[in-house]
This record gives sequence, structure tokens and C-alpha cells, in this order.
Amino acid sequence: MSLHKRRKIRTFALLFCIITFTTFLFSYTFGDPSLYFKHAFRLSDSFLSKGLCACHQCMMEQDEDPWFAEHFNQSVHPLMTRENSVLSDETFKWWQWLQSESQPANFSEVVEELFQVVPDEVLYVDASPERCRTCAVVGNSGNLKGTHYGPLIDSMDFIIRMNQAPTSGFEEDVGTRTTHHVMYPESATDLDNTTILVLIPFKILDLQWIISALTTGTIKYTYVPVPPRIKANRDKVLIYNPTFFKYVYESWLEGHGRYPSTGFLSLLFAIHICDEVNVFGFGADRNGNWHHYWEKNHLAGAFRHTGVHDGDHEYNVTLLLADKHKIQMFRGR
Ligand SMILES: *[C@@H]1O[C@H](CO)[C@@H](O)[C@H](O)[C@H]1NC(C)=O
Ligand SMILES: *[C@@H]1O[C@H](CO)[C@@H](O)[C@H](O)[C@H]1NC(C)=O
Ligand SMILES: *[C@@H]1O[C@H](CO)[C@@H](O)[C@H](O)[C@H]1NC(C)=O
Ligand SMILES: *[C@@H]1O[C@H](CO)[C@@H](O)[C@H](O)[C@H]1NC(C)=O
Repeated sequence: MSLHKRRKIRTFALLFCIITFTTFLFSYTFGDPSLYFKHAFRLSDSFLSKGLCACHQCMMEQDEDPWFAEHFNQSVHPLMTRENSVLSDETFKWWQWLQSESQPANFSEVVEELFQVVPDEVLYVDASPERCRTCAVVGNSGNLKGTHYGPLIDSMDFIIRMNQAPTSGFEEDVGTRTTHHVMYPESATDLDNTTILVLIPFKILDLQWIISALTTGTIKYTYVPVPPRIKANRDKVLIYNPTFFKYVYESWLEGHGRYPSTGFLSLLFAIHICDEVNVFGFGADRNGNWHHYWEKNHLAGAFRHTGVHDGDHEYNVTLLLADKHKIQMFRGR
């Protein structure tokens, strides 16, 4: 080792000690000592290993877990743009089969019309050693009740909720902020104008519905009545990519169930766009009940065995992701 190199390391070590010590003093004097550990971790991470993100634990690690690497494919983008909207024949057929339409409109024409109404942007491809994007994926399970997770959820950069999920009246347990709300026409709910609407399309009509719901309000029925209009900021609408949808089903669920649930689709969305994923409100409550946190009746809304989703398998994969430290599960009560 050259003298120059050794001196450099010594300077580095000294600098590290000074920063650590002052951080410690600061946090010890001014409050929460756990902050000290958090900072020390981040500092040592960025000094000792060349992290792929600025969080303590990154979704993309260099020493990749083989199981994760086998399933994860970074080149499939979760969101649809004009450019990636041309689907392969195989993907188009699979997607059309999900909720078959008797008289489907022309897909490419609808897509063109869609991107005249909603933005056509490539988002979330900004991963870097400087980025630490923390995300909360908030499921709708009754196990959230009484957890007081609200402030923790609200502290994340992205907060992803789904379907009918309300926050009003449940703030203490589920938080107040929502950056992304994932839905499809039959599960749609009004949003405030700061929240991003992430539409999961199951058919061409769903794309026509979002166009209509943000403009003329002419589409009132799919296979059930749907809201003709929706309160949402049309500059903040994103479309879940059918190619990504199929990838989640094939690569992550290995074909279990008819198609993935909104919860599982939201989880994989987060895994692809976040550095750190925290999962709340997935699974049953402590009595084994599968209900929504806003429902009084514990036996209502048994969404586990609906016939289209394989809830057990999805939950197994979710637990495996937690075992591999790819996500952190907050299991609730
Ligand atoms: C990942 O996705 C890309 C784009 O869809 C595809 O071309 C490639 O074969 C996939 N890689 C693996 C390992 O499946
Ligand atoms: C859909 O419309 C495009 C452009 O108008 C046209 O080229 C294409 O042939 C149409 N596809 C079908 C299946 O009708
Ligand atoms: C969002 O809504 C608030 C009040 O509802 C309004 O003051 C604000 O201008 C809106 N912002 C945008 C970008 O539409
Ligand atoms: C889920 O995991 C459990 C325990 O490992 C296993 O017994 C069960 O068969 C798995 N279920 C599915 C659907 O993969």
C-alpha cells in the first residue's frame, strides 16, 4: 500500500470518526438517540460500500439474492407511455382475456386519445446512489386497526393506497397522506388534486372510462355501474402497463390465480420504483379475519378467496420478500 493511499485512508477514517461523534453528540443532546444509529448506518453505508441507493438497505443490492434476481426484471417498466404502449400479440391476447369484451374498441386509437388527456411521461427512472426513496404500500386489511402506524406511514416519501381506501376517520392507524392511489373503474374513488391516480386497466373499456371520467362523463357502466366522473387531477394520472401486469402474474405469481390482486400489483409497482418498501395492512387480522379496516363487520368482504386471486400464494411471495429483506412487513394486529 503506498504511503499516499495510507494517508488518504487515515484522513478518511478521522473524518468518519469526527462526523460520527458529532452526529452522536448532536442527537444525544437534542433528542432521539435512534437518529444517531440511523445516521451512522447511512454514513458507514456510503463510505464502506458503494451503495446503489442512499438508504440503509436498497432494493437493488450488488450481492443480489438469487431468488429475487430470478424473478425481478428491471427492464419491464410499470407504467404505460405512448412509446411502450405497443403490446406484443401474446401480451395483448393475455390482457384481453382478463375481462373479455364483446366489442372492444381499437386499442391503439384509444391509447392515442388517452395520452391527449393524461400526461405521457417516463417517470421514476431516477435511481442513483444519492436517492433514498422510502415507500409505504398500505393495504386495506383490518389488521391496521389500533396499530397507530399513521405517523410512520406519513413519514415515507411515497404512500400508495388502493381501491376504496379512506383515510378520513382512520388517520391514527393509516396516516393522512396519499401520494399514489391505485384503482380500476369498478373500485374508483374521488381523490384530492395532489394525489396521483394509478389506473390498472383490465380491458380497453377501462382506458376509455378514464378518458370519459376526466372529461365528458359518458361511460357509466362496464360490467357493473361505475362512476361517470371522478374527482382527480388529470395532470396526475398514470396508467399501469399491461406488459408489467403480465410480468407480475407470470414472473412473481408463476401463473397462480386468474390474475394478481390490486394489493400485489401495487406491491410490485413499489418494488420497481422505490429504494425501500414498507408494507402495511396486508394479510388477515389476528383472528384470521379478512376484512377492510373501514368495515365494522369482521366477516364482511372476504376478499381472500374470490376465485380470481390466489391470496395464499400472493401472501407467501410477500412473506418471502420480507424474509429476503427486500420489503419490511408491518403486520399489525
Ligand atoms: C426482461 O424484460 C425484457 C423486456 O420485456 C425482456 O426482453 C427480457 O427477456 C426479460 N429478461 C428476463 C431475464 O426475463
Ligand atoms: C386500429 O387503428 C389503427 C389506426 O387507426 C389501424 O391502423 C389498425 O388497423 C386498427 N386495428 C384494428 C384491429 O382494427
Ligand atoms: C388543488 O385544489 C386546491 C383546493 O381544492 C386549489 O387551491 C389548488 O389550486 C388546486 N391545485 C391544482 C394544481 O389544481
Ligand atoms: C404457502 O406456504 C406454506 C408454508 O410454507 C405452504 O404450506 C403452502 O403450500 C404455500 N401455499 C401456496 C399457495 O404456495
